[in-house]
Amino acid sequence: MDIRRLEARDIPLIQHANLENLPENYFMKYYLYHALSWPQLSYVAVDVSRPKKTPYDYPKIVGYVLAKMEEEPADGVQHGHITSLSVMRTHRRLGIAEKLMRQAQLAMVETFGAQYVSLHVRVSNKAAIHLYTKTLGFDNEKSEAKYYADGEDAYCMRLELSAIR
Ligand code: ACO
Repeated sequence: MDIRRLEARDIPLIQHANLENLPENYFMKYYLYHALSWPQLSYVAVDVSRPKKTPYDYPKIVGYVLAKMEEEPADGVQHGHITSLSVMRTHRRLGIAEKLMRQAQLAMVETFGAQYVSLHVRVSNKAAIHLYTKTLGFDNEKSEAKYYADGEDAYCMRLELSAIR
């Protein structure tokens, strides 16, 4: 498995993975906006074990993290935000999401001097909550009622990045 930066040509595959894995979906231009504005922050996991049949055969993308810097932070503190993260069902529980997240976090600090990273997650999403709180050390700051379009609440989470500065 290779973890590498998101490239513009990956975007249709990322959009496909997002549609497969999450109810929160975005227009193509929003992915492109991330890739063009903060090219250092978003990563894909590529299954390199699959043999190439032709020179044009495109590697299979099995996970992605789409990340950005908050453009006008309300608290005035430079920080990153995880817009979306997912791993295909066939490749879960192999440590891919953890690797994608750690790469994005490191790049936020190294490239933009981020002080912390934030995200939203559904209160019912046990797998992601375990990843964020137990594996990566995020704190659950507060809940946001009816954050999602279907009425589910979100946890607003935050991880201080001082440890990797
Ligand atoms: N139940 C409990 N714990 C789990 C589960 C699960 N279903 N899946 C993974 N974990 C734990 C792992 O055991 C590991 O814990 P450890 O560090 O204590 O050993 C930790 O989470 C990290 O595991 P990874 O293998 O890195 O996670 P994975 O690659 O399987 O991806 C993810 C986790 C992204 C949540 C995946 O299940 C997924 O794509 N789910 C659907 C999409 C989704 O929910 N995305 C997050 C939405 S929030 C947002 O986008 C900001």
